[in-house]
Amino acid sequence: NPTGAILLSVALAALFCVGAEGKVKDGFRGYKVYRVTPSNEKHAQFLMDLQKSLEAQLMTDEIDIWTDTESLSTKADQPVVIMVSPEHQPEMLQTFDAEGLKYEETVADLARLIEEESRADAPTTKNGGMSWTQYHNYSTIESFVQWLTVNYPTIVSTSVIGQSYEGRNLHLSKVGKPRADGKTKPAVWFDSQIHAREWIASATLTYMMNELITGYSSNSTYQRLLDQVDIYVLWVINADGFEWTKTSSNERLWRTTRRVNPFAACLGADPNRNYDHKWMVSGAVQSPCTQTYAGAFPFSEIENLHHTEAYLARRKEIKCLLTFHSFSQVWLTPWGYDNSLPADYPELYDLGVRATNALRVPYGTVYRVGSSTALLGSAAGATDDWGKAKGMTKYSYTVELRPSSGGSNGFILPPNQIIPSGIETLRAVIVVLQQIIDEF
Ligand code: ARG
Ligand code: ZN
Repeated sequence: NPTGAILLSVALAALFCVGAEGKVKDGFRGYKVYRVTPSNEKHAQFLMDLQKSLEAQLMTDEIDIWTDTESLSTKADQPVVIMVSPEHQPEMLQTFDAEGLKYEETVADLARLIEEESRADAPTTKNGGMSWTQYHNYSTIESFVQWLTVNYPTIVSTSVIGQSYEGRNLHLSKVGKPRADGKTKPAVWFDSQIHAREWIASATLTYMMNELITGYSSNSTYQRLLDQVDIYVLWVINADGFEWTKTSSNERLWRTTRRVNPFAACLGADPNRNYDHKWMVSGAVQSPCTQTYAGAFPFSEIENLHHTEAYLARRKEIKCLLTFHSFSQVWLTPWGYDNSLPADYPELYDLGVRATNALRVPYGTVYRVGSSTALLGSAAGATDDWGKAKGMTKYSYTVELRPSSGGSNGFILPPNQIIPSGIETLRAVIVVLQQIIDEF
């Protein structure tokens, strides 16, 4: 029975972390990352076909295009980074040469990079144990949120909107000074870490919120902003997946949720393909062992369900949605399911440009602005499209943080970049908050 044999080998592979070559993964020892620059349509097509066949053969543990792109054909000259296991390096480099693809090695040993990234400082009791010179696990983020809530009660309140599949509490904070007359303020919604491996997302979001909240009493800009706008913060959407990437260096590159799929050995679905606007129409698949499995139906993932319920209940207040991801340094507008643009695209684009211009000032970090489909290729069922269509949120964006699309370290951004990422992204956020105050 061939199907049975395949299922069994997938199950065994999942159980023992064994790749197709039968080797036990050793924290990505000897894995390399290459930056590859397609310079014509043929190159772009080759890379897309490669990724498709890697997914079909369940080989993305060994060779994986990290750069978030659904299609490369229209974006010749945009470099991508590819991770390659030791066994596949000779054949991969031969293939690049045969295709005439330019490449350079950007990470010599991924295991070392991951070890350096997980280096921890001496524990601190400040900020609930939180800091921004290292990456922290979910429970530290939780105690940080708790600490903010207890210490800044006049501007922060927090509730639990539900539990993740594995039972972790999902925390939603409301940040802002209530108006003296009790009237509703316009609000924005920030969330992060829907993708487990994109650690810089929650690191940047926690940095920015810490800065705004702890700086409120002494900084007149923060005061003016938080007096006029409310910020809802869903700190970490995919708590289970995030914690999974923290538990073992072998799992550092996990993307999806951790739900058991009834008919497959592979766990989870891509929560950023699981929302109910134009679900499955593009850039998503119905195969549970892939990175972009959309789930069996919209909101099959409990985290997405809690998100949508909490969000829609506040939808009349919410004028803007920023969902933080990494990487590529792009500020993305709807639509992401096909190449049409919303009627108010010029306004969304204009705010994106002003925000990313402000972001660029401190370190010269360059972002591109445009629709998801135009810049990455279409992928349906994501937060941004759902926020715009179902939440009726005018300004709905996906923000892909550092590094750039060919950025050497991809998801493994060294911890000394957390603070710079926080500082520059806060500048963009301030432009956005000001726009919401001026307009609503
Ligand atoms: N990198 C993100 C993802 O693949 C981008 C999502 C952008 N939005 C969209 N509707 N395609 O999930
Ligand atoms: Zn992402």
